[in-house]
Amino acid sequence: MNAFKTLDDASLSARRVLVRVDLNVPMEGGAVSDDTRIRAVVPTIREIADKGGRVVLLAHFGRPKDGPEAKFSLAQIVAPLAERVGRPVAFAADCIGPVAADAVAALKDGDILLLENTRFHKGEEKNDPAFVEALAALGDVYVNDAFATAHRAHASTEGLAHQLPAYAGRCMQGEIEALEKALGSPERPVLAVVGGAKVSSKIDLLENLVGKVDILVIGGGMANTFLAAQGIAVGKSLCEHDLAETARRILDKAKTARCDIVLPVDAVVAREFKAGADNEVVPVGAVPADAMILDVGPKSVAAIAARIDGARTLVWNGPLGAFEIEPFDRATVAAARHAAERTRSAGLLTVAGGGDTVAALNHAGVAEAFSYVSTAGGAFLEWLEGKPLPGVEILRK
Ligand code: 3PG
Ligand code: MG
Repeated sequence: MNAFKTLDDASLSARRVLVRVDLNVPMEGGAVSDDTRIRAVVPTIREIADKGGRVVLLAHFGRPKDGPEAKFSLAQIVAPLAERVGRPVAFAADCIGPVAADAVAALKDGDILLLENTRFHKGEEKNDPAFVEALAALGDVYVNDAFATAHRAHASTEGLAHQLPAYAGRCMQGEIEALEKALGSPERPVLAVVGGAKVSSKIDLLENLVGKVDILVIGGGMANTFLAAQGIAVGKSLCEHDLAETARRILDKAKTARCDIVLPVDAVVAREFKAGADNEVVPVGAVPADAMILDVGPKSVAAIAARIDGARTLVWNGPLGAFEIEPFDRATVAAARHAAERTRSAGLLTVAGGGDTVAALNHAGVAEAFSYVSTAGGAFLEWLEGKPLPGVEILRK
């Protein structure tokens, strides 16, 4: 972390500290259904408050298109946040202007205030200088703890760092450190497991990874595209036939970079996409014309486990099969549990991230057993693509 300014470098006592957090949590029936992102920013909030800083939290919620809307209000996050922090959290119904200024002025050292959704103002996503200035007027110091939003060059994620002394919060710091260990200067061999439905959403990611990792396991629906590109019939499986050329280019690039690509050798196939559907295991060369591949088969899982055993570092993004419907979660669960076991017994560094991935690891019951699970979806993907994240870059010394 020597390259970044962190809370260790900041003077916080009696300062108004603008802290960008990611509170973009999923909701179900009016309640937070996964509080991972809230829990992730608690240490930063407490540390700043304990050091006598006046904590002013900035965050977005959802994607409001046209100004304030009740369903995108951060008011609904105040209570769950206060509960996790274990301290009172005040709320202001606007993030700039007199309402925000009065709420900030009322803060005493160690108090915590959450401001309303920054995306209720158009200037946020435009990174508009006037909006940045209106935010900056509320603080003396800026801390970014929102790694999950660091791929956005918005006013509260990037613009503010030009106006105020800027530091990484502890969640941001933890993410950067874990990612650096996994792909920046990793212990080799490095193994990447990439799954998910489509190659089209992960072309850049795959192209970047084949140049960085020693072994790349490809699973999920996207493996079908690679199999088909090599002339293997995949029946009715999800497959992007128009990306055959892209898939072959990635395979060629891997060969040049001496990255070993591991594709499934067997598959679990079914005639319908539904939980409990009749299914059978077939070699990948024998997928019936009327069947679809819904998971990688047991021989493939054994091969992945053997690769995990030989690795020192593992980066995981995306499920190996249709893990949301049983029994097509088997390969994902088995491989994830094997990785968790190697983390415990062999000191394998295991880093995972990206929306579905965390859900899959939770489903397998191993999220806690991995070395690090990122709070980020899109930002984690862009980082795997090798793209600089504006919210991170601006925090460099
Ligand atoms: C996320 O959930 O991916 C982040 O909070 C960023 O949200 P966005 O994709 O709407 O910018
Ligand atoms: Mg996103």
